[in-house]
Amino acid sequence: MIPWTLLGTANIPNNGGELKLTQRDKEFSIHLKGARGELMNSLKRCSERALADLGCAHIKGEANTKVVVGGLGMGFTLEAALNITGETSQVIVAELVPEVVEWNKGALGECAGRPLNDDRTKVHLGDVAELFTSKKPTYHAVLLDVDNGPEGFTNASNDNLYSLRSLCAIWETLHKGSVLAIWSAWDDPKFNGQLKKAGYKVRTEMVRAHKGKGSRHTIYLATKP
Ligand SMILES: C[S@@+](CC[C@H](N)C(=O)[O-])C[C@H]1O[C@@H](n2cnc3c(N)ncnc32)[C@H](O)[C@@H]1O
Repeated sequence: MIPWTLLGTANIPNNGGELKLTQRDKEFSIHLKGARGELMNSLKRCSERALADLGCAHIKGEANTKVVVGGLGMGFTLEAALNITGETSQVIVAELVPEVVEWNKGALGECAGRPLNDDRTKVHLGDVAELFTSKKPTYHAVLLDVDNGPEGFTNASNDNLYSLRSLCAIWETLHKGSVLAIWSAWDDPKFNGQLKKAGYKVRTEMVRAHKGKGSRHTIYLATKP
C-alpha cells in the first residue's frame, strides 16, 4: 500500500480549523484536521461535475454568460462549468482559502485539467457571499459547493450563506430564468422550503459520488422564474 504524503496545510479563516492536502500515487485528499474528516477526494468527482452540468444545462453553449462557482476545492465543478458554457462565457470561482488556489496551481491542478489556466476563469479570493451584494441581475448560474450541505461544516459563517436573507440576496443577482444550484451530502426538506420561501422554483436531483456508485448526494436546483 502506497503511503499518503502531506503536501500542505492551510488555516481556514474565521477560526474554521486546518485543511490538509495529501497525495497517494494519483489520488489526492483534502482533510479537515481532527474528527471532522475528509472534505474531498479526487477519485470522487461525479457529483461535483454534476453540480455544473445540471446547474448550467439552461445555458449550454450560450454566448456571454456569467457563472459563479463557490468554492474551488479540487476544481471539478469549475472544469465542468467551463466545458458546458460557451467560449465567451466568464466563470468566477470564489475560494476562501488562498492555499487551495495555490495547491490547484501545483500538482493538484492536474486532477481537473488545470481549469485555472482557462482565460474564461476569474478567481475571487474570499467569501463567495461577497459576490452577492449588488442587487443587480448579473449571473446566469450560481453553483455552490462550499460545505457539506446547507449547514456550516468547514466554516460556521457558511450557515449565513444558506439563510433566507442570503438566498434572497443571491436571487437579486440572478437574471430571470437563471439557476442557483447547491451541492449537499444529504437531502434536507426544510432547506427546500427555505428556497421556495425566497421565491425560487425548486427541484432536487440525486447523484452518485463515483460513476453510478458510492454515496448519494443531493443537488438543489432553484430557478428564478
Ligand atoms: C467541498 S470543496 C468544493 C469542491 C468543488 N466543488 C470541486 O469540484 O472540487 C469546498 C471548497 O469551498 C471553500 N470554501 C468554504 N467556504 C467558502 C466560502 N464561504 N466562500 C468561498 N469558498 C469557500 C473551501 O475552502 C473548499 O475549497
